[in-house]
Amino acid sequence: MSQLIPPHGAEKLNPLFVYDPAENERLRSEAHSLASIVVSSATAANAVMLGGGYFTPLTGFMNKADALSVAQSMTTTDGLFWPTPVLNLVEDAGDIKPGQRIALKDPNVEDAPFLAVMDVEAVETFDDADMKLMTEKVYRTTDREHPGVLAFNNQGKVALSGPIKVLNFSYFQSEFPDTFRTAVEIRNEIAEHGWSKVVAFQTRNPMHRAHEELCHMAMERLGADGLVVHMLLGKLKPGDIPAPVRDAAIRKMVEVYFPPNSAMITGYGFDMLYAGPREAVLHAIFRQNMGANYLIVGRDHAGVGDYYGPFDAQTIFDEVPDGALQIEIFRADHTAYSKKLDKVVMMREAPNHSKEDFVLLSGTKVREMLGEGIAPPVEFSRPEVAQILMDYYRSSAG
Ligand code: ADX
Repeated sequence: MSQLIPPHGAEKLNPLFVYDPAENERLRSEAHSLASIVVSSATAANAVMLGGGYFTPLTGFMNKADALSVAQSMTTTDGLFWPTPVLNLVEDAGDIKPGQRIALKDPNVEDAPFLAVMDVEAVETFDDADMKLMTEKVYRTTDREHPGVLAFNNQGKVALSGPIKVLNFSYFQSEFPDTFRTAVEIRNEIAEHGWSKVVAFQTRNPMHRAHEELCHMAMERLGADGLVVHMLLGKLKPGDIPAPVRDAAIRKMVEVYFPPNSAMITGYGFDMLYAGPREAVLHAIFRQNMGANYLIVGRDHAGVGDYYGPFDAQTIFDEVPDGALQIEIFRADHTAYSKKLDKVVMMREAPNHSKEDFVLLSGTKVREMLGEGIAPPVEFSRPEVAQILMDYYRSSAG
């Protein structure tokens, strides 16, 4: 069996989910006697990522010093390369004290069941300047119109830090049984396929032709034998296409347009940060953890509005210290449909083209058309994908 890429900053993946059923049960009953808090959705999503091994080698929620250090310089106080604070922020810690074990309850599931237990090491408050600094560094803006900035700043300023043990995978496993995967599961499946060079594709959209071609191009050029389509299953901003619809569209596209056994369709439970470049780096880390050798980063990766330059999420990788990451980035140019060549191409690679020779493909444009009841043309979407999206828009319009 070929050797998979090692996890980030560790020899072994470190999933914080409690796999032993007896121990999981014991912690669940212990949780009833502990002080508990209902965490923010972002915190719950972080717990799910920690649980599945995606955030290896982290052992829990960061303290103030680590969060500020990561925001400033993409490095923890111990020197681990990490691009975004992983925090459990609350409005008010009540009587919770360092040294205490507490239970974390899930805000995204009815009756807020226990999601994790946490051994609190510190209770610290960020001041306004700290919050501003983290927001500015991670999101490159403090504008509350930015959905990630709003979500980050709406949780409270008190950080509870310390190691956690995760008891379940929130709603992701029950709502997306065929798609949700932990990093542990993806590593195992890659090994079972016997793939030796694996490309990961991040997406929060149904896959249109630009997305599809990016994957084909990356696989061909890198000589890869496996593709892991890895979609975000957590919270999005209003207007984004819901995960079940996206899941169905992607499955159909892969079934029809990819060779058998060359692609896995999977998802992870995390709320979109819309942090553009910093999120792209986080994406790379957790794709390395799930066993991918390459991550495709195209135009405006993980961006929103016009907060980021179209290729900022690629150039940030120039700042990554040598050796900090083992995964490599496939830097894709803007892909568009060429009317001259009658296929999707990377724009910089199409000679003698003017702007008019391209049909520009974007998820936003397709969503606008669908909202108006117009089927996206074949240059945008495969007909099978267009049909699934049209059905969704028709049913949700009524
Ligand atoms: S994202 O927020 O998950 O990045 P999206 O699902 O639209 O959004 O994009 C998935 C990946 O495809 C990202 O790497 C993005 O940069 C890339 N991408 C999407 N559309 C294009 C395009 N037209 N040209 C180049 N890259 C693209």
